[in-house]
Amino acid sequence: MRILVISGSLRAVSSNTSLLKAAQMLAPNGVRIDLYEGLGQLPHFNPDLDCAPFHAAVADLHTRIGAADGLLISSPEYARGVPGALKNALDWLVSGSEFPGKPVAFFNASDRGTHAQAALRLTLETMSARMVDAAMVTVHLLGKTQTPEEIANDPDVAPRLKAGLDAFVKAVAGCAGG
Ligand code: FNR
Repeated sequence: MRILVISGSLRAVSSNTSLLKAAQMLAPNGVRIDLYEGLGQLPHFNPDLDCAPFHAAVADLHTRIGAADGLLISSPEYARGVPGALKNALDWLVSGSEFPGKPVAFFNASDRGTHAQAALRLTLETMSARMVDAAMVTVHLLGKTQTPEEIANDPDVAPRLKAGLDAFVKAVAGCAGG
């Protein structure tokens, strides 16, 4: 099973990216978790350019989404909304065939970004994602400077990440509903 994890933050020391890197370290047996690192290279979405031959970064995004059995997204909230870079990536996926039906869950690094999460869910549901509510995890990394290793070994956080990953894997494998 292949899971693609996407951080909505381009910050070098992003808590959302660290959370997803910790999830990579806690990947269950037989599950490969890849971090998508192309968010900052995508051009601004333009429907005129949403056709072959695609920009290389857009083609790469399509390939990675197509190869993934499910997506985990961890994103900050900016001005009560979804970060533009993340929304831009989703816009490039709206008309493609790779996204509809894709299982998606949120791993949240803060419990404060509720507006962004609601907006993100609305967008993803509009794109026919299969939201896996049983796998959603919210932890409190805001204001901390934990490395991915420290998060993966945190006695409070690690069990919750593992439980979220297990629930996600079950849902993706079709053993449990989202
Ligand atoms: C924020 N932040 C923020 N937080 C929130 O709960 N509601 C908001 O509307 C905003 N708006 C906002 C705007 C801008 C320009 C910045 C830079 C920040 C805080 C932000 O979501 C928070 O620091 C994230 O946890 C940072 O995530 P990373 O970059 O550590 O992954």
